[in-house]
Amino acid sequence: MSGLTVAALADIHSNYIAFGRCLEAVKEAGAQVILFLGDCLTDCACPQETMALLRRCMREYDCRFVRGNREQYLIDHRAGKGGWRRGTGGGSLLYTYNRMTEDDLDFLEAMPAVRREVFPGLPAVLCCHGTPDDLRGWMETRPDQAQAWLDEADAGLLVCAHTHRPRVDRLARGTMVNTGSGGVPTEPGLIQFALLRGEGGVWRPELVSIPYDVEPVIDTFSRDGFLDEAGLWPVMMMKQLREGGEQAIPFVKRAHELWRGEGPVPERAWEQAARETGIL
Ligand SMILES: [Fe+2]
Repeated sequence: MSGLTVAALADIHSNYIAFGRCLEAVKEAGAQVILFLGDCLTDCACPQETMALLRRCMREYDCRFVRGNREQYLIDHRAGKGGWRRGTGGGSLLYTYNRMTEDDLDFLEAMPAVRREVFPGLPAVLCCHGTPDDLRGWMETRPDQAQAWLDEADAGLLVCAHTHRPRVDRLARGTMVNTGSGGVPTEPGLIQFALLRGEGGVWRPELVSIPYDVEPVIDTFSRDGFLDEAGLWPVMMMKQLREGGEQAIPFVKRAHELWRGEGPVPERAWEQAARETGIL
């Protein structure tokens, strides 16, 4: 196929099995460039396998990265701002952090929060995880601001992620694409990413959604201590992978409502929240 094909992947969340399936599809699509839109790591087991796949990608493709809130948490922890311990609240993040090398963390820290990519003959592409001003922002709630960011960057395509909800929105002077999640989608048993086909001076975004078997991913949770170190977080993630929807937000919200004390939420509040939200 003539023209340029760019794959945009995000929110892999250490699901290296889904990531591997994404990469097969990226290869089949003939992509030359991969944009990684953040949250490559944490929340599933096997961060080192995910890092190995990322390094393989960098050997095989022209890869460009922005950081997500998960990368930011890991960077902040190295700077002494994490305060995590084993258990549901921060155990999953700590599990991942403890399996990162200094080189891995340097690699994450080198990722910018926002980047403007230029490909010859095509409108510039503005890339971020949430929104350009907030790694945890929800772009779809701010369409007017999205147009303003595109105008300010003199770009025609804004690519973001974080919500795990794929979509393409046409704006007055450009297009906004949310890639969905390559590892932990809200639709169960799928992997999602976007292909950006650039030809004749225009981008044609295409959302890709591929079914795969989540059970081998869940099997990895009992390897290498993830279930032991991360409290009920892996249990919540199993439900997320099998049933989709939005499991983490109500679980975390309810646990904090139940615990109004100082310091980290205790396991008994997490357990009650898990029962009330159907995780246990
Ligand atoms: Fe995120």
